[in-house]
This record gives sequence, structure tokens and C-alpha cells, in this order.
Amino acid sequence: LIAGKASGPLAGRRVVITAGPTREPIDPVRYISNHSSGKMGYALAAAARAAGAEVVLVSGPVSIDAPVGVEVRGVMTAQDMLEETERAVNEGCDLFVATAAVADYRPDTCAGDKIKKSNKSMSLSLVRNPDTLATIAARDDAPFTVGFAAETRDIEHYALDKLTRKKLNMIVANDVSAPGLGFNSDNNAVTVFWPEGHESIGPGSKTVLAQRLIALIADQLTEKAG
Ligand code: CTP
Ligand code: CA
Repeated sequence: LIAGKASGPLAGRRVVITAGPTREPIDPVRYISNHSSGKMGYALAAAARAAGAEVVLVSGPVSIDAPVGVEVRGVMTAQDMLEETERAVNEGCDLFVATAAVADYRPDTCAGDKIKKSNKSMSLSLVRNPDTLATIAARDDAPFTVGFAAETRDIEHYALDKLTRKKLNMIVANDVSAPGLGFNSDNNAVTVFWPEGHESIGPGSKTVLAQRLIALIADQLTEKAG
């Protein structure tokens, strides 16, 4: 097989995508995490690849195979995710999409030995994790940057707040309170906001949604970056 030149709306573009949950260790056998399946990020990676891009997927622990033609770099914690993403962006990146459900906090220390139960109650001391999306968007050489916002209420308000505060080019807002949509589901419905407009996509399968999202992102990227 002779590799042909990639064609499609993202031909020649380098894309970095984060996906899945992170795991924040409490002790050698326990961690804090969330229900993210990684499906949206993996579907977007496949769609970006199909649109002609070279794709690096920085992924927390999930049980999905790597999409064909996509390079997956596995990470565990939020701190790992930031480091691995910075490394990937430093290699060259035109478009960064953050779909990962990053743990906002981690235990301030990880116990060296398994914690034994003793009292009726116990508490964990947590510290804030670094924000990969905000860190990449704040770079002088920031790529075109797209974030996700999983919300259960006031979706537009919170999404627009994240768009401005994190200095993003686009934000994909996701109502995770809708039954059968979003987190850990095969289906999703989103509204995408950017400074000059917005568009709702779905409900539909994450595969179809990902293709339409990539088409929309490619349009805006081309308009902005040429
Ligand atoms: N994100 C990230 N690193 C973090 C937290 C979030 O890269 N430490 C990214 C997510 O991948 C997503 C976006 O930021 O693209 C928004 O995540 P979300 O959890 O909705 O927002 P937060 O800024 O964490 O705010 P909050 O959880 O308080 O709503
Ligand atoms: Ca969060």
C-alpha cells in the first residue's frame, strides 16, 4: 500500500485531543475518578483522522481500542495529562480539543501503604489539579483551542463563562443531566458556542456527532487560521 496524501478539511493539520477520566491515587490500591468512558474523545480522534489530520490522543484509562491511524498516549493522573499534552503540543499542534473529564482535585498526598480502617469516619485532604485546557489556551503559541463543558444546569451561562475565562476559540456544551445522553453513553446532544455564533448538534450517536463537530471546528479553524 502506498500512503496517499491525506485529503479532507483537516489535511495537513496536527491535532491533539485529550480523552477519558483521570485517576488520582489515594493509596496503592485506591483512587478518585469519574464515569467518563472516553467515547466522545475517541470518536472525535477518529473523525479528525478521517478528515485528514495527524492525531495524537492523550488518554486516561478507558477500555476502547485506539482508532486506526491515531497515536494514543496513555496517562493516569491530571498532572500526567498536562505533561503529556504539553509534550504533544510542543511537537507541533494546529488544533487542540479537550474532551477529558479531568479530576478537579487530587489527594494532597498518596499514602505509601494501603490505608487501614480505624475510626467511624475519615476525611481526605484534596488540592486543586492543573487545568490542561486553560494552560494550553494561555500559551503565546496557542493552537486553535476547543473545550467541552459538562453541565447539569444554566448550560449556556456556564459554557460562555468557560469560553471567555479560559480564552477558548470554541466550547462544546453538554447537558449531562439529560437521561441517556453524555457521560458513559453512546449518544449525545451538544450546543457549540464561539465568539460569533452557536450551533446545536444532535441528539445522535457520538460517532455521527463527532463527524459533525469536526466539520464545524474545521470551518472555524480555516476561517481563523486560513
Ligand atoms: N479541563 C482540563 N483540565 C482540568 C479541568 C478541566 O483540561 N483540570 C478541561 C476539560 O477537558 C473540558 C473543560 O476543561 O474541556 C471544562 O471542564 P469542566 O470540568 O466542565 O470545567 P472546569 O473548568 O473544571 O469547571 P467546573 O468543573 O467547576 O465546572
Ligand atoms: Ca471540572
